[in-house]
Amino acid sequence: MKIAFAGKGGVGKTTLCAWLGDYLARQGHDVLLVDADTALSLGQACGLGPEDLPVPLNAREDLVRERIGGGYLRLNPDVSDLPGELSVELPVTAAGGIRPGRKRLLTMGSITGAGDGCACAANALLKSVLAHLVLQEENYVLVDLEAGVEHLGRGTVAGVDALVVVSEPSRRSLETAARVGALAGELGLTRQVLAVNRGMGEPELPKMTGLPDNVVHLPILPSLVERQLAQASVLNLADGPLVDAACARLLASMGKNS
Ligand SMILES: Nc1ncnc2c1ncn2[C@@H]1O[C@H](COP(=O)(O)OP(=O)(O)O)[C@@H](O)[C@H]1O
Ligand SMILES: [Mg+2]
Repeated sequence: MKIAFAGKGGVGKTTLCAWLGDYLARQGHDVLLVDADTALSLGQACGLGPEDLPVPLNAREDLVRERIGGGYLRLNPDVSDLPGELSVELPVTAAGGIRPGRKRLLTMGSITGAGDGCACAANALLKSVLAHLVLQEENYVLVDLEAGVEHLGRGTVAGVDALVVVSEPSRRSLETAARVGALAGELGLTRQVLAVNRGMGEPELPKMTGLPDNVVHLPILPSLVERQLAQASVLNLADGPLVDAACARLLASMGKNS
């Protein structure tokens, strides 16, 4: 299953992606987490130190030149080796007698709409790798996106099974979520879940065109608020059972909506 996370900056995309990846790995699934945001914070959210973070793919000029070229761009290079070569293994804590799956992180950098020269070639490489992951790779692939899905290309979007549109319970953030949902829907990505993060209770949401009907509420977690001053990791919180319950609700809501 291929799941993408989108929404306004700061709403919790990276956090939810890290939580769901860890939850699935603890349930025994192999998971590839893909950081496709400029901020590149998924690794740290998963507990890696800044010194352990790999160089993002879009900064690997050697690979960009080798696979895409500099002058005439090769647009369908073979990239099947790159996820295996470039991803780093993340630790998974076994739980409940289940043998955990592998959890790996691939740091890509952000796919943008425009770009010229080297940026354009790097963008072409990122798009090829993402298309490969979404269309060919097995198991769970979770992609932390910068904003929406509009830069991915129709072919890639068609391979994404579900989009988690993350929002805060605020008007402005929901407006962005509605825009992201509408654009993704136009590209054919209709299986969408609205994750309303950092809320209190389950408030009724304003009606907006494009906002996914399927809603999962995630509470604000005091243990994360307290922890984040000292640490970037969002895993292994005292509120872990709440996180796991939210992940289970997210997965269940993806199954029933199409
Ligand atoms: N449910 C939550 N409870 C408390 N803090 C949260 C929660 N979700 C996210 N955060 C915090 O909010 C901040 C922004 O989250 P992040 O995942 O980086 O957002 P995004 O990736 O959308 O920019 C982080 O400091 C994160 O620890
Ligand atoms: Mg982020």
